[in-house]
Formats: sequence, structure tokens, C-alpha cells
Amino acid sequence: MASSSFLCNKVDNIMQNLDAPQHGGRLHAAADLFSIPLAQWLDLSTGINPYSWQPPDIPLSVWQRLPDSYAELESAAHHYYGAEVLSIPGSQWAIQTLPTLFPQARTWIPREGYEEHRYWWQKLGHEIRLYDDLPSLPLQKHDVVVVINPNNPTTNRYERDELIALADTLNTLQGTLLVDEAFMDATPEVSVFAGNSTLPANLIVLRSMGKFFGLAGMRLGFIYCNEHLQQTLRSVLGPWAVSHPAAYVASLALQDTHWQQQNRLRLAQSSIKLKAILLEHFDQHSISCDTLFCTLQLESNKAAQLYNHCAQQGVLLRLFEQWGKIRIGLTTKPGLQRLQSALQCWNS
Ligand SMILES: Cc1ncc(COP(=O)(O)O)c(C=O)c1O
Repeated sequence: MASSSFLCNKVDNIMQNLDAPQHGGRLHAAADLFSIPLAQWLDLSTGINPYSWQPPDIPLSVWQRLPDSYAELESAAHHYYGAEVLSIPGSQWAIQTLPTLFPQARTWIPREGYEEHRYWWQKLGHEIRLYDDLPSLPLQKHDVVVVINPNNPTTNRYERDELIALADTLNTLQGTLLVDEAFMDATPEVSVFAGNSTLPANLIVLRSMGKFFGLAGMRLGFIYCNEHLQQTLRSVLGPWAVSHPAAYVASLALQDTHWQQQNRLRLAQSSIKLKAILLEHFDQHSISCDTLFCTLQLESNKAAQLYNHCAQQGVLLRLFEQWGKIRIGLTTKPGLQRLQSALQCWNS
């Protein structure tokens, strides 16, 4: 692991010129492209919970004062995750920062998945290896393996035991396992944090307040990692990287176990309803659903056609043209009705 001065030299010297990944939620661009006013869109292009946790009024003192400690937030997070974590301004921050802290390494990235991982490791000059499935990896000394669990957008999942065994194997090679659990909150029982065993020292886990809690705009996430890396990250973060309002709101949301339980049930029902609508139009083998979205795997240009078809009716989906995939976020009852009518005249 490198110091932060190494970080700066490395960033200056090695940053590669790559095209930044595209994301869902680009409503302004869609409004311009399809000439439909912003307010008329149904945005299903993200995997953000449509029933987000409702923040209370934030006391003026929280806006006025700098956060002088994150102890309360991190204690609530410890209790919620069952592991000691460091608060960060969104898990994206860690995705961008971690590759600056490792010496040049071969980095294994899922062939299909949240593209920011590949982008940042590659941008920082690491050697990228794309994988389809974990068990087949020919690992070498110092390798870094990135697993997105569950994967966005494929919905693939790996078992906790498999990931811990992988971390152990990597440990013998002085390698690192980075598990992105941004979409894990609805199924905490299968998180790498579940169970009582001590976690391997070379394991890094990312969590997000954006997806399950539906608070993506708050820019708050957490990282689990060993003490040495935590110290480095703290010095890169500086004193107030997480805003006081974000820390205040997140502490409350993390302690709201009643909402969390209700929300897990509601999301499960919502996912079943979305899948039922998709089954009316698509082959069951082309549909895979996770707790916050469903993904369609379609023949070559069908994905782009479906995206355009729905967009022309003001329903924004997430197109992954390079993989022939469409991701559709969960939505409320009126949202489902609108999706249903948009799909009515879809000729698959
Ligand atoms: C798999 C995955 N990880 C991490 C992130 C970043 O989330 P955030 O920075 O809001 O925590 C995203 C955002 O879409 C994601 O899809």
C-alpha cells in the first residue's frame, strides 16, 4: 500500500485518458434527446429504492456546525452492518480512491458490472483482467480481485463462504479482495459480514446508503478494511469529507430497524410485481431480478430498440448496449402501470 504523496505522483504520471462510464438517471439528457419535458419522465434507469427512507427536518445546528466526530454515525453503522466501518462520501469515492493506494497490480474485474471499477483501476495504470466467473481465476502474487455482490446489472451473486475462501487464497498471495456490496442491504443474511468468523485482513467491503435507503443524493457510504488501510483512507479523507447533515440523517436511517424490515418486504413484493409485468412480454430466461431492479438480456439490437421505444413514451430505462442488456428499476404502483402501458405495444 502506498502513502498519499506516492498517490499524487502516481495520479499525475499514470492517469490514462479513458472515456468515463455512462450511468442511469441522466434525465436532462433524455429530456433533450426525446423532447419530453423533465417533469413528464418516469425514471426507471437507476437501482435506487423508490420508497426511500424519509429524513426528518434537520436541526439548524447540524447545518451550522462542522461534524466534529463521526463516532455516532460509525457506531450506528457498526451495529447495522455487524462490522466496524469507516464513513466515506459515497462508495464511489472508495472506487476512485483505492486504485491510487495500491502499487501496480493485476486487477480482476467482472466482465459485466458497474463500470466505474474497471475505469478507475485502468485509469491508474493497473493491468486489467476481465473475468466471467470467479472459481476459474489463475491468480498470481499481489493480484486484486473486485467482486460486485450482488452484481449490477447482471444480478449474479456469490456465496459468503466462497468469497471468504477467495480472500484467504489471495492472502497467501499477498493479494486483496474488494467486495462491492452496494446492493446487499435487502439481504444482510448473505453479506460477507454475516456470521461470526473474523474477516480476513486483505478483505475490503464497500456499502452504500444510496440504494436500499434510497438516499443516493446524500453521498454517503462505508468501507470496511484493515486498520492500516483505514488510517491511510482517513488521511486522504481529511476532517470533514462527510457532511454533517448526511451523517445526521444516516445515523437515524441506520437505526430505524422497523423501516428496514418493512422495506425489505415491500421491495420483495415490488420485485415480484415488476417481474410479472416483464414476463408478459419477455421470455423468462431473459429476465433476472434482484432486490432493487430487474435486468433483461436481449438479442443484439433489441435492447437499444426497447430503450428507444420506452423513452419515446417518457419511460427511462438503463441501456447497456455493449452487453445487450436493459436494467429496469423497481417502481411504485402508478409507475408499474405506466411501464405496463409503455410495453403494451412493444413488439418483441
Ligand atoms: C455496484 C455499485 N457500486 C457502487 C456504486 C456507487 O454508489 P454510491 O457512491 O452512491 O454509494 C454504484 C452506483 O450506482 C453501484 O451500482
